[in-house]
Amino acid sequence: MSIISTDLSKAIAILNKDALVAIPTETVYGLAGNIFSEKAIKSIFETKQRPFFNPLIVHIPSVDVLPDIVSHIPEKAQLLADAFWPGPLTLVLKKNSGIPDIITAGKDTVAVRIPNHPVALELLQRLDFPLAAPSANPFGSISPTTAQHVNDYFKDKIEMVLDGGPCQRGIESTIIGFENDEPIIYRLGSTSVEAIENIVGPISVKNRKQIAPDAPGMLDRHYAPKTETILVDDISEAIKKHKDKRIGVLAINSPSEDDGIAFQIVLSEATDLQEAASKLYDALHQLDKHDLDIIIAERFPDFGLGKSINDRLQRATVRA
Ligand code: TXA
Ligand code: MG
Repeated sequence: MSIISTDLSKAIAILNKDALVAIPTETVYGLAGNIFSEKAIKSIFETKQRPFFNPLIVHIPSVDVLPDIVSHIPEKAQLLADAFWPGPLTLVLKKNSGIPDIITAGKDTVAVRIPNHPVALELLQRLDFPLAAPSANPFGSISPTTAQHVNDYFKDKIEMVLDGGPCQRGIESTIIGFENDEPIIYRLGSTSVEAIENIVGPISVKNRKQIAPDAPGMLDRHYAPKTETILVDDISEAIKKHKDKRIGVLAINSPSEDDGIAFQIVLSEATDLQEAASKLYDALHQLDKHDLDIIIAERFPDFGLGKSINDRLQRATVRA
């Protein structure tokens, strides 16, 4: 029997007994559990094989709940929340004393967001507790953007995937932390740097673990297919270099005409960056299934969501 279902009451019953449900959000599917249940949170880490030093994002139904989660809201955090919630933006703020250490990996800050998905919002409204939800994939692998992706990863290990259709945004939330009340981007994501700068002015990006010890999840290798992946500006040149291999191509807007390609995907014929972002992970999932020796991915223009897509593709190229 499939674990994929649209039964919201069933999801609520499972979450109420300290078990896990994979839930849809606008970014990616999350593996959700009650933030106050040690049993549920431990099984999130176990199921994902995620190291305990990597803290979780708390998902809440509305800003009214924020004071229960955090102890201080800088002015610019309030502006960002007003501008982007519900939506793909996570704020890392000083935590309230009631937030368990296992959620925050012992840190004095907590990551929080309101997802913009009708099913997730209704679920959160009907529960008596917020949900911790990391992306519903084994640690380091490609994030899921459909219920089927989650099912393929975890079908024997979780009771239910709540199906909310394919994720409209397709890349994780942008994460913003604060130093002396000034915002800093810890993870590029579905809210573009430009959109954020429109609200709070110029902002720096510290999304590499060497320079951002406060963003412990920003590992260099992440979001990675099993197949070796390279990121290039010139697909034809890369195909020539690897001509003896079984090649897969991930192109931005037009198919490569070169011979010797075993499988290829075009992300957006109209070069629409949001369309490309929403299809990115599914494309990587598909390419990974084609027994390729190498995936050649075309680098995006370095602005707007193109920056976030390049960030994910760059991490996909780092080998274990
Ligand atoms: O779009 C998303 O954010 C998705 C959906 C399901 O909401 N969730 C997601 O969660 O991407 P996850 O666990 O895959 O990524 C959470 C990131 C990690 O890189 C983690 O290190 C960072 O958030 N994080 C969590 N708490 C933090 C904290 N207190 N300080 C710094 N970084 C934190
Ligand atoms: Mg993740």
